[in-house]
Amino acid sequence: MAKKTPPKNDSIKSFHQFKVPVSELELGMFVSELDRPWVDTPFLFQGFLLERLDDIRTLQEICEYVYIDIVEETRVPQSKERKTPQKQRCYINKINTEKELPKANQAFSNAKLEMQRQLDAIKLGQAVDIKQTKAAVSACVDSILRNQSAMLYLSKIKQSDEQTADHSLQVCILSISFAKHLGLAEFEMENIGVCALLHDVGKVKIPSEILKKNGPLTEEEMSIYQRHTIYGRKLLMSKASVYPGIVDIAYCHHERVDGKGFPRGIPADKIPYFAKIIAIANDYASLTTGGRQGLPRSSLETLRILFERRNHFYDSALVIHFIQLMGVCPPGNIVEMSNGEVGVILSTDSRYKLRPKVLLMLDQYKQPGTRTVADLAKGAVDFFGRPYVIRHIHPNGAYGLNVNDLEL
Ligand SMILES: [Fe+2]
Repeated sequence: MAKKTPPKNDSIKSFHQFKVPVSELELGMFVSELDRPWVDTPFLFQGFLLERLDDIRTLQEICEYVYIDIVEETRVPQSKERKTPQKQRCYINKINTEKELPKANQAFSNAKLEMQRQLDAIKLGQAVDIKQTKAAVSACVDSILRNQSAMLYLSKIKQSDEQTADHSLQVCILSISFAKHLGLAEFEMENIGVCALLHDVGKVKIPSEILKKNGPLTEEEMSIYQRHTIYGRKLLMSKASVYPGIVDIAYCHHERVDGKGFPRGIPADKIPYFAKIIAIANDYASLTTGGRQGLPRSSLETLRILFERRNHFYDSALVIHFIQLMGVCPPGNIVEMSNGEVGVILSTDSRYKLRPKVLLMLDQYKQPGTRTVADLAKGAVDFFGRPYVIRHIHPNGAYGLNVNDLEL
């Protein structure tokens, strides 16, 4: 077992609460705490959903910041240029995670092979056959429709560095799950999956010294790196079987809603809707993987970063939807229980966001123990008969536990 690094962690006490300056409050946020006692304010309830502009104005008059809770049901504000479906289609899991895992694994492996095949073909200047890519993505969509936890778990435990086919596949799975959460139709889930899988193909034209460089890029290297969006567009545009949406995403996935993205710095209303979705999935995957952007961050820390970047990098409503999708306990993340045992989250039921199913791997002394599954939603108890409670969520590598080493 590798060295047990003391992990940097997020406290369970407040891990689902985000501190927000009152100037950034939006309708639909659930305010759970203030920067002062509730009795000093005119609010009747300690914790409420922001449904009126008047309440935002009152908070802005009396507070400097508040805490919003992402576990409480929030009504997400509409995306500006396209109405995000408000549970237009509500998908429910048809099978449990353990049963879905073998099928998900098959679809995952096929999609990875397909991605590698596409990259090789593009490098050799061969024709891009979208039919096969669509079939591979379609199998992933089917799995995600049956139970998305299995695919999310796999994409987490099988991710490697951010420049490989694995990264594109992870972005693909996150984007499909996100589209499902947004209530998009099945054909749109397939389209976004193909777009996400191919969004970074332009990187085949970028020197590997730049892609694999550890640490920040120089100005010149950055300008070369940014060209992968232009190369991606050119490579895909020249292929007859590729439809325009895929080309647009390869071109626009690094654009920002404040107009400061690349390659063109276009304003929010000119960025395709799918590019806004994929931008969030892409950065979530990169930040949780680590690499040039630093050490791997925990899912929660990453969600906080995405939240802070909303309205600058990403569409605010979409970020809040994404936080709701991933929740505080996404599959594949390392958790420490209140009795000291450590495990990996297998799945989370949206009805019990703080009570996932956990594969316990280390005992209370952080030594490898008998692997058992504890279903917190069903009141699983530890050796002493005490109900399991999550104390911390850690980034990958905590206590020498590497989720990439896990087997099915
Ligand atoms: Fe990219």
